[in-house]
Amino acid sequence: MKLAFLGVGNMAGAILGSLRGVVDDADIILFDRFPEAMARYADRGYVRAVSAPAAAAAADCVIFAVKPQNMPELFNELKAADVVHDKLLVSIAAGVPIRAFTDAFGPLPVVRTMPNTPMLIGEGVIALCRNALVDDAAFAFVRSLFDAAGSTIVLDEADMNKIISVTSSSPAYVFLFIKSIYESGLAQGLADEGLLDAVCDAVIGSAKLVKASDKTPDELIAMVTSKKGTTEQALMKLDEYKFAEGIHEAMLACTRRAEELGRA
Ligand SMILES: NC(=O)c1ccc[n+]([C@@H]2O[C@H](COP(=O)([O-])OP(=O)(O)OC[C@H]3O[C@@H](n4cnc5c(N)ncnc54)[C@H](OP(=O)(O)O)[C@@H]3O)[C@@H](O)[C@H]2O)c1
Repeated sequence: MKLAFLGVGNMAGAILGSLRGVVDDADIILFDRFPEAMARYADRGYVRAVSAPAAAAAADCVIFAVKPQNMPELFNELKAADVVHDKLLVSIAAGVPIRAFTDAFGPLPVVRTMPNTPMLIGEGVIALCRNALVDDAAFAFVRSLFDAAGSTIVLDEADMNKIISVTSSSPAYVFLFIKSIYESGLAQGLADEGLLDAVCDAVIGSAKLVKASDKTPDELIAMVTSKKGTTEQALMKLDEYKFAEGIHEAMLACTRRAEELGRA
């Protein structure tokens, strides 16, 4: 299978990184309208195409990795060249439904995916769904591309916008959480050296404990929270500032935006 990446920005870069040693460089074709994006891979053996249609024409599987708002112009360019009529299509775009692809190109097999940035270090979570035209072998192939980048989950398309708030945008909330704890440590006079690492280790350790333990998050919270202790004070403050409600509202806003992007 030859793969064409249309758009070679951050997310395509993360996928390309995880495909090293999994797919031959010579089987990967890149096109990005921003020449510097492709120049980053000058030391690799990827094929650099002169246009999106040229990249798609040379591939069996076309990976759409541009922003959702750039998708209509890319569709128009590919439709005008009539080059995707016999391809397996894969999208990583937030909010863009499978129907947008079949409306543009006719009844083609389409896998819609939702990756996240920890994919950059092989620790991603990638949600996938497909239309009925993707057979099991093709779906297994696409899934294997993403298995190289982390863990994969298969969903109904109806849930793809919601999962963005859970696994794809959530790294940003976690980065903000880490930054907030780190900055409070500094503001309290702790030395900077090693502090950010210590915060990250606390977050990583906590997440690993949730995964390894047979206790619920509430039971684990109770384990840290002694009566009249320090954590109890902290949690009361978080409650006063509506921490959990804030997260929920943020996630609903994220899902609404994904729906808007899909309608654009
Ligand atoms: N970032 C995340 O955490 C994340 C998570 C999950 C899914 N996604 C999805 O991943 C996709 C890519 O996001 P990204 O963060 O990698 O974006 P990005 O860094 O902006 O990369 C997209 C690249 O595609 C280029 N491009 C735009 N229109 C094009 C066209 N018609 N033909 C060829 N190249 C074109 C852009 O060039 P210009 O800069 O000139 O526009 C840019 O270099 C998006 O659809 C996003 O929804 C992102």
